[in-house]
Amino acid sequence: MATVSFTQMKHGSHQDYVMLQALEHSFYTKTAQRLHDELERQGQDSLDGYLISRLEHGLQAATRAWRDGANDDWVVAALLHDIGDGLAPQNHDRMAAEIIRPFVSEEVTWVIEHHGAFQMIYYAHHLTGWNPNERDQYSDHLYYQTAVDFCERWDQNCFDPSYDSQQLDFFVPFLERVFARKAYAAEFIKPCNSQGLPQALPTS
Ligand SMILES: [Fe+2]
Ligand SMILES: [Fe+2]
Repeated sequence: MATVSFTQMKHGSHQDYVMLQALEHSFYTKTAQRLHDELERQGQDSLDGYLISRLEHGLQAATRAWRDGANDDWVVAALLHDIGDGLAPQNHDRMAAEIIRPFVSEEVTWVIEHHGAFQMIYYAHHLTGWNPNERDQYSDHLYYQTAVDFCERWDQNCFDPSYDSQQLDFFVPFLERVFARKAYAAEFIKPCNSQGLPQALPTS
């Protein structure tokens, strides 16, 4: 395989960087596969003490979203919302948000980015010094209610070992579709619907 001529980036040539750009493009096409692999890994190694693994939690969240008629953005966001638990456990919400940010709507990214604070309403009152109302700081935000609904319907309730989730393979086409999109294309990262309102979650 061709390689660059430099050992320091500042010494690279036009030819070097044109070659790297082409290779990066083909590297990007495997993002969905890498995410799949990390989810699979979460089936073997995730937070102890829960009744199900983080992989099963993500599958349950994505399955509930899909069964509610959610679009690709939401299904993939639900699937990946805790993918940062292994590498960035203290800010896993922001890590997941950065993974999806170039490819999904601003509203979906915002909800994933802040879901950690919104989840605290369900458990923080059991812990000394924690604030269950952490989400209140966002109460005037355009996407506040969407984040409330995401956590209620597709996150806090997704720890049930008896739930009949779709398997990971089922969601591969969803991952492939979303991560094949042109990064930061306006048609995908649009902030709101045509009326300037949040798109929110489907009501079914
Ligand atoms: Fe989370
Ligand atoms: Fe979660």
